[in-house]
Amino acid sequence: MSQPDAPLPTTLVIFGASGDLTERKLIPALFSLHQRGRLPGRLQIVGSARSPFSDEDFRAHLRNGVQQYATESFNAAAWDRFAAAISYLRGDSNVADDYAKLAAFLREKENGPANRLYYLAVAPSLYAPIVEHLGAADMVHETDGWRRIVVEKPFGRDLASAHALNDTIHRVFAEHQVYRIDHYLGKETAQNVLFFRFANTIFEPVWNRNYVDHVQITVAETVDVGHRASYYDHAGVLRDMFQNHLLQLLALVAMEPPASFNADALRNEKVKVLRALRPVEPGNLTLAQYEGYRDLKGVAPGSSTPTFAALKLYVDNWRWQGVPFYLRSGKALARKVSEIVVEFKCPPHVMFDRPTGDCFPPNVLSLCIQPDEGIHLQFQAKVPSSQQDTRSVDMEFHYRSSFGNGKLPDAYERLLLDALLGDASLFTRSDEIESAWRLIDPILDGREGTEALIVAPYAPGSMGPVESDDFLARDGRLWRQGCDD
Ligand code: BG6
Repeated sequence: MSQPDAPLPTTLVIFGASGDLTERKLIPALFSLHQRGRLPGRLQIVGSARSPFSDEDFRAHLRNGVQQYATESFNAAAWDRFAAAISYLRGDSNVADDYAKLAAFLREKENGPANRLYYLAVAPSLYAPIVEHLGAADMVHETDGWRRIVVEKPFGRDLASAHALNDTIHRVFAEHQVYRIDHYLGKETAQNVLFFRFANTIFEPVWNRNYVDHVQITVAETVDVGHRASYYDHAGVLRDMFQNHLLQLLALVAMEPPASFNADALRNEKVKVLRALRPVEPGNLTLAQYEGYRDLKGVAPGSSTPTFAALKLYVDNWRWQGVPFYLRSGKALARKVSEIVVEFKCPPHVMFDRPTGDCFPPNVLSLCIQPDEGIHLQFQAKVPSSQQDTRSVDMEFHYRSSFGNGKLPDAYERLLLDALLGDASLFTRSDEIESAWRLIDPILDGREGTEALIVAPYAPGSMGPVESDDFLARDGRLWRQGCDD
């Protein structure tokens, strides 16, 4: 019997190799995977950027990043073994000749058939040129191993540009070769939404309009815009956080169970949710900017870029009809937390004495994405020795106590590994990206650059403008902090 062929070696080519993302995320993630023995065998890493690094300089630069950011602890001998597979070739992403040089460099390194993963860790303006140059240099054919490309966010700045970028990519790569990153999908706890819902029996029967009063998704950050002001001022919170991370979380919460756990089945269901989102009415939206934002270097004078947004969304389908999904995210807020809160309806009949005669505090289920990863369920319990008094109590699961105290893997570890293994489940497909833009575009349209976009200032260190609380108060609801201990 003939032996199965040994897997081909793989080369990971990082464009933008001298940048922040490579140093802080990609190489630390690869090092941690290496330490855990998870990387495919015979992997080489080739960095490309304009900086004049030698291989040694490049490795020394990356070593610092690994010491600071890797989830696995640093160890000099392990680093030396890992770093031996790293090399660097100076190149300008806009220069055709540099791709010919890169192709020759790779051929020499690979010395035979090899798989290749191209990673675009560059400014978004370079995505299309790199794709076109790779195509022109004949570097995407899959005759000598697979060819894949990872595209970072932001993917477009509106529907038209996202569509144009998808077109450019599809002229060169087939969709199965394209991996669009949304790092929220790589977070253990975001993936766990699917396991929570579909690996258990007891939650799914109540996961619908009959039992759920509403859903809240909060991604709050304490950091301000800082040194990213010139990027951020052209983006704003709707592009930076909503079009991607928040809508992806919403899709995980609201999607129907796929028949199998594979990339297309999963993404088909997510895209159905995104397509079912009702356009946002002006009254269901609060946009705000933190005080002092306009003084930052890189921010246009009188900028109307929102650094905070709260939206009320509806998923117009059978399961979710009439159930509001409240989403909020902002910079310079009081807490760093990403959480999904599902608030359930009142019991149909209250047989106990209630001072006000109304409903008990509702059951609240909180999926805590970060920083204290876990799941909390709030329910009513009778206060001992009382006749009929109740109090809300919490049933809690914490990753740190159930799975040990080690750090959870960084999202990039999972995503890089999946891209290397050819599993696109946690990457966004072209139709998902465009459906998300279809929701965000009309909010920005015609109002960008005008004061009309900003409705409220807020104090740094607060939880956003009072308008975002009013917004829920009008519906008789309030923002919850379901993940606080
Ligand atoms: C990025 C945004 O995609 O996500 C940043 O561009 C934001 O502005 C970051 O700070 C938040 O990610 P995390 O993993 O820290 O919640």
